[in-house]
Amino acid sequence: MMSDTPAVNWVEVISCDDIWEGEMLAVEADGKKVLLVHCPNDKLRAYQDKCPHQRMALSEGKFDGQAITCCAHLWQFDAATGKGINPESSQLFSYAVKVEDNLIYIGLPQKSKENIMSTKLVGPVVRDNEMAEALIAAIEQDNPDVELYVDDRGGYIRIHTEQYCRVTRKSLEAALGRSFPLSQIEPALATFAGRIRSGDEEIVWYLEN
Ligand code: FES
Repeated sequence: MMSDTPAVNWVEVISCDDIWEGEMLAVEADGKKVLLVHCPNDKLRAYQDKCPHQRMALSEGKFDGQAITCCAHLWQFDAATGKGINPESSQLFSYAVKVEDNLIYIGLPQKSKENIMSTKLVGPVVRDNEMAEALIAAIEQDNPDVELYVDDRGGYIRIHTEQYCRVTRKSLEAALGRSFPLSQIEPALATFAGRIRSGDEEIVWYLEN
């Protein structure tokens, strides 16, 4: 039976002695900025060090032992699960983490074709037209440092990223070359993967644990 757990590359980051229970720390794993959190009961968690709101470094925020609070606009996340406390619809991008010989390792997803199939992708599916091209450009712009998967399914284009995907009105308007209220995007969306949160300034597709 095939496992539905994506294969990962384990990258050593720091020693267990460098992060005490109740602390969080920014580390780098193979060029990726990762937030390492030492939760109660000796549980380690690893998340992308970017707030899903406007991509501020979460490591610059606060950790009270239970919740991580972003320093910019005070969004809060459950440190043990990455799930949003405020707003509840948000979710941090998580990485696998393990300890061996007192060293902490972060599991970065491998980008093999098989792995992409088993990875949790989210984002819109749109009809193949001007809007599809603009959305690809805008989503690429709004989701730096993450892999973009574009899949042409005969008239419909899947534009997905892993776990969390956002598009802003600003980037979409820049790609379209005209003003465009995000409320008008619905007719172009055939469907989408993940959950959706939409507002006047951005649309977010996310994975709920
Ligand atoms: Fe984190 Fe706004 S960037 S709450």
